[in-house]
Amino acid sequence: MTQRSAPSVLIIDDEAGILETLRILLKNEGFAPITALGGKAGLDALETSSPDIVLSDIRMPTVSGIEVLAAVKLRDPQLPVVLMTAQASMQSAIQAVNEGAFYYIQKPFRNDELVAILRRAAEHRQLKIENVTLKQEIQRRDRSSVGNKPTGTSRSWLKVLDMVETVAPTDSTVLITGESGTGKEVIARYLHDLSPRADNSFMSINCGALPESLLESELFGHVKGSFTGAVKDRAGLFTAANKGTFFLDEIGETTPATQVKLLRVLQQREVIPVGGTESMPIDVRMIAATNRDLEEEIKRGSFRGDLFYRLNVIAIHLPPLRERRDDIPVLATKFLARVGGTRHEHPLALTPDAQDAMQAYDWPGNVRELENAMERAVILTTGDSIGIEALPERVTARRVEPLVAERAIINPTLDAIERAYIMWVLQSEGGNKSRAASTLGIDASTLYRKLARYETDV
Ligand SMILES: Nc1ncnc2c1ncn2[C@@H]1O[C@H](COP(=O)(O)OP(=O)(O)OP(=O)(O)O)[C@@H](O)[C@H]1O
Ligand SMILES: [Mg+2]
Repeated sequence: MTQRSAPSVLIIDDEAGILETLRILLKNEGFAPITALGGKAGLDALETSSPDIVLSDIRMPTVSGIEVLAAVKLRDPQLPVVLMTAQASMQSAIQAVNEGAFYYIQKPFRNDELVAILRRAAEHRQLKIENVTLKQEIQRRDRSSVGNKPTGTSRSWLKVLDMVETVAPTDSTVLITGESGTGKEVIARYLHDLSPRADNSFMSINCGALPESLLESELFGHVKGSFTGAVKDRAGLFTAANKGTFFLDEIGETTPATQVKLLRVLQQREVIPVGGTESMPIDVRMIAATNRDLEEEIKRGSFRGDLFYRLNVIAIHLPPLRERRDDIPVLATKFLARVGGTRHEHPLALTPDAQDAMQAYDWPGNVRELENAMERAVILTTGDSIGIEALPERVTARRVEPLVAERAIINPTLDAIERAYIMWVLQSEGGNKSRAASTLGIDASTLYRKLARYETDV
């Protein structure tokens, strides 16, 4: 892999001797080292330099390596962190890996071990950057060449597009609901593009992806010193999205405390940064999305009714693909044209058999599943057209409802049915456990526990 320039490594340790040794070692190995004596200096250096990798000791007085890691995740979740640990702090290293550290290395270590890990971290960083650029490029091309109107010709889809076109010029808050993969984000962007705010930013945040503490400081900003790692005032995303559109994705995943704060933002149109006292006015158009049934969540007490009514000013529901089957061939053609053109001379066509199978299949993962199936099919196909054999097995298998199949076994227990259902949902969600848990309406931890039990059962 080619590295554009020497990857810079921010080395953080509270022992000057070790710091210097590491600096010389890494310099000789072709890295560009930056050093910081202690965790506090490390945090400052994070604000002033932009390293490709952070290499930090775990055990340091005042600010520990774990706190450095937390600060890094806040600032740039893709920035790899390598933690150095003594045997005694093994436990905290394991916790760190769970929190997303790139790697940890146990002291004492050999120089070549450390260098190998850092090289891997540098590659990882480079790949992440390339992935992001590639994604942006695809999105850009998508917009300019195909136009950004979300594809679909079914009556229900055209009704959705009509609705979007009607509400786009207003500033009303919109709540988009629909199963996973139905195009909620696509619709949110389209709404923004048609709105008077189109020239300003579209800020999207996945409320389910960050722990509560990080989510709040990302959204509202924070003042210096409000928590370890907050070394200076930082504006939140609401402020950064000023005059633009703010997309709160997976709003159903927010905690009650965050919900209270969001309600305040919607009512008062102002934010108070974490640890601050003064509020700042904001001018953003809000769009929220969820694949949960929020009214059900309100009954269960996990979502605030007052927040729901503030969000649900205009409701746009995206029907699942199985309820708008006319869109299946149209979307397939679009995806084939997009991916096919790069690998084959002409976009590939589908054989009649393949078309029939796709038309009959239920697409539990909706448009995303269809898109993935088409990408896969293009890769698997060497001829001129995509036949049934290039489609995923679940698409072509005769549809046997798994629950019914399970019932065909004599007198299944409730446990067996639960298990079959869980496995089916998991498969429908493409193996994504957190999404499966959310569809099932249970905690991810409960799902993990159940899966672990099934594994020991067999
Ligand atoms: N009408 C459409 N036209 C073109 N592409 C679409 C359309 N709907 C969805 N897609 C594509 O399908 C994929 C899933 O769409 P999107 O991310 O908007 O779904 P979602 O409803 O937000 O899903 P999730 O609930 O899992 O977040 C994306 O890659 C998107 O580009
Ligand atoms: Mg989404």
